[in-house]
Amino acid sequence: MELDFSNKCVVVTGGAHGIGRALAERFAAAGGRVVVADVQAERAGRVAERIGGRAVTCDVGSVDGVSALVAEAVAAFGPIDVFCSNAGITDLGDGLASTPEQIERITAINMLSHVWAAQAVVPTMVERGGGHLVQTLSSAALITGPAPMGYTMAKHGALGFAEWVQLNYAHKGIKVTCLCPNVVNTGLIGRDEDVPSTAERAHQLGLGDVVEPEACADHVFAAMEEGRFLALPHAAVGESFERKAGDYDRWLEGTSHRIRRMRGEEV
Ligand SMILES: NC(=O)c1ccc[n+]([C@@H]2O[C@H](COP(=O)([O-])OP(=O)(O)OC[C@H]3O[C@@H](n4cnc5c(N)ncnc54)[C@H](O)[C@@H]3O)[C@@H](O)[C@H]2O)c1
Repeated sequence: MELDFSNKCVVVTGGAHGIGRALAERFAAAGGRVVVADVQAERAGRVAERIGGRAVTCDVGSVDGVSALVAEAVAAFGPIDVFCSNAGITDLGDGLASTPEQIERITAINMLSHVWAAQAVVPTMVERGGGHLVQTLSSAALITGPAPMGYTMAKHGALGFAEWVQLNYAHKGIKVTCLCPNVVNTGLIGRDEDVPSTAERAHQLGLGDVVEPEACADHVFAAMEEGRFLALPHAAVGESFERKAGDYDRWLEGTSHRIRRMRGEEV
C-alpha cells in the first residue's frame, strides 16, 4: 500500500536539485504539503511551484538558518510531520590539507544540520505522538571508501547521531530512516538538471552503478513503509557493510587496496 501523506507537513532540505528534488516530488505526489528548502532560491521556487509546495531560502549550515526554516515551515503548513535532512556538499579542501574553515563548513552542513533540525522538530513531534526524520547520508557513512576526508567524517558522525536518535526516541514515536546510496546522478557528480545533456554524463564517467535520484526516493518510501532504519539503493553497500562487521581488519586492508588501485597507485 502506498504511503499517504495527505495534509502532512514535509520539509526537504536541499530540495531544489538532485535527491532532495526527487524526495520533494515523491512526498508531494503522496499528498504531502512540502516545504522545499535550499540555498538556491530561484531553483527551490521552481520546484515548489511545480509540486504546489512552499519554497524557503535557507542555509542549513547554521543553527539560526535551520531554526528560521522550521519557523517558516510551521507558519506555512503547520507542525512538521516529516523532516528530510538532505542538503549536503562535498569537500571544500584536500584531505588533511583542508583548512579549519573548510572542515568546519562541511561538518556544519553534512553533520550538524541533522542535529539542529532534530533539536528543532523532535520535541513537538513527541508531543504530537510521533514524526519521521529522513536523513540523507551516504555509503560513506557506513563504509569508508574513495569519498573525501571531510565528507566521510561528517557522514559517519551523522549516522552516529541518527542511531542515537533512533535508540532514544523510537519508543516516543520518532522514526528514523537513513538513505545511504553510493553514486547518484545529481549535482554532486556534475549534473545540472537545467542542462539535459549532463544527465547522461554520469554514466560515462566510469563511476560504477550510478542510480537516479528518483530511485533513492523510491528506496526511502520502501524503508519508511517497512519501518527499516536503512534505505540502500545499492545492494553492494549493504554487502560491504556486512563484510566490515564480519572482519574489520580484513575489510580495511581489502578496501585500501581497492582504493589505491582505483587511483592508479602501485599496490
Ligand atoms: N550524488 C551522490 O552520488 C550522493 C551519494 C551519496 C549521498 N549523497 C547525498 O545526497 C544529498 C543530496 O545531494 P545530491 O547528490 O542530491 O546533490 P545536489 O548537489 O544535486 O543537491 C544538493 C542540494 O543541496 C543544496 N544545498 C547545498 N548546501 C546547502 C545548504 N548549506 N543549505 C541548504 N541547501 C544546501 C544545493 O543547493 C542543492 O540543491 C547530500 O547530502 C549528499 O551528500 C549524494
